[in-house]
Amino acid sequence: MTASDSPTLHHHYVMPTYAPGMTLVRGSGAHVWDDTGREYLDFMAGIAVCNTGHCHPAVVAAIQQQAATLMHCSNLFHNPVQPRLAQRLSALTLGGKIFLCNSGAEANEALFKLARKWGSAEGRYEIITMKNSFHGRTLATMTATGQTKYQKGFEPLMPGFVYAEFNALETVRAAVTPATVAILCEAVQGEGGVVPADPAFITGLRALCDEKKLLLLFDEVQCGMGRTGKWFGFHHYDVRPDGFSMAKALGGGFPIGAIAVTPELSNVFEPGNHASTFGGTPLASAAALAVLDTLEKEHLIDHADRMGTLFMEGLNALARKHACIQTVRGLGLMIGVVLSIPAKPVETQLRENGLLCIATGENVLRFVPPLVVTPDHIQQALDQLDQALTVSTA
Ligand SMILES: Cc1ncc(COP(=O)(O)O)c(C=O)c1O
Repeated sequence: MTASDSPTLHHHYVMPTYAPGMTLVRGSGAHVWDDTGREYLDFMAGIAVCNTGHCHPAVVAAIQQQAATLMHCSNLFHNPVQPRLAQRLSALTLGGKIFLCNSGAEANEALFKLARKWGSAEGRYEIITMKNSFHGRTLATMTATGQTKYQKGFEPLMPGFVYAEFNALETVRAAVTPATVAILCEAVQGEGGVVPADPAFITGLRALCDEKKLLLLFDEVQCGMGRTGKWFGFHHYDVRPDGFSMAKALGGGFPIGAIAVTPELSNVFEPGNHASTFGGTPLASAAALAVLDTLEKEHLIDHADRMGTLFMEGLNALARKHACIQTVRGLGLMIGVVLSIPAKPVETQLRENGLLCIATGENVLRFVPPLVVTPDHIQQALDQLDQALTVSTA
């Protein structure tokens, strides 16, 4: 078998939940290569996963070393790596305990269960989520996702989720009932089109949660881990949540998810309440520790902030040239370019020219490059986009 057989094998043997494009065989830093040897500048980073760049040597070394030492031993035993990761994450986040799992959906499920357990004595279980949000593909996270297109055909949905308008505080207030236990929100809606929350909305959510004794929960799966130029998206707002989920970039490409909560919520789960066979294996924990080290040692979060500003300035300049750019929005290196034309053909054109990004919704191009991108990479991406928009509107 060669890499060029991959599409045929995929067609015959992999369930068609995705419609993949070309076959990628290698990655390094901000670049990936396909099976013909063609190089691409990667401004999607495996959908906001490879924040430290593809195959960062420190992450690769940590995985190789831990893989040869102890990959997995079950959470029925202590291992020397997992608690070190939890300690680091706790110090970085809310000062409470950490639950480790494998994906964003699983992390959000843990948040839901924790909120339900916390509210159970008072019979409270309802979670308010935002329209246009995205929280995952399991039954509960798909239900929490405020977009019917992800839910069609999978009814009945899970009970206990109600929706409010993102950035419209009064609709959230109106959704609160005596059964409400929590509000879940993304600081920057990712799949929903890269829409940052308004500061007044986030502080208003906190005040509402305090008033009604609700948990304020954030989904940091996409906007966390330095992506927005701060460790977590909610750090752009003057707010402290009660808990939040993370995944994607936490393992730098190795699957791992987590939730962080405040000290007050740290012992809501008791032994037997929740579990995951693979949650926080020594291997996954070693990868995540190497990612945290790298983000810190290479000052990648401040760098993301600077590169985001540079990219945003360049995109705004392009918007003055191309009337089809309606808005440029985002935080740090999580940027959406809203077009007046369909985004998918532009994404395809960019790919043909050697730049990877993701169309989201009908008309938004999403750019979530590795945080290691340089000013030169940013300029290349701007030139590519300039060219692709010229072709697409000719
Ligand atoms: C904000 C957000 N939450 C949750 C998820 C689900 O994460 P996973 O695909 O790892 O289950 C995603 C995935 O795109 C996401 O963007």
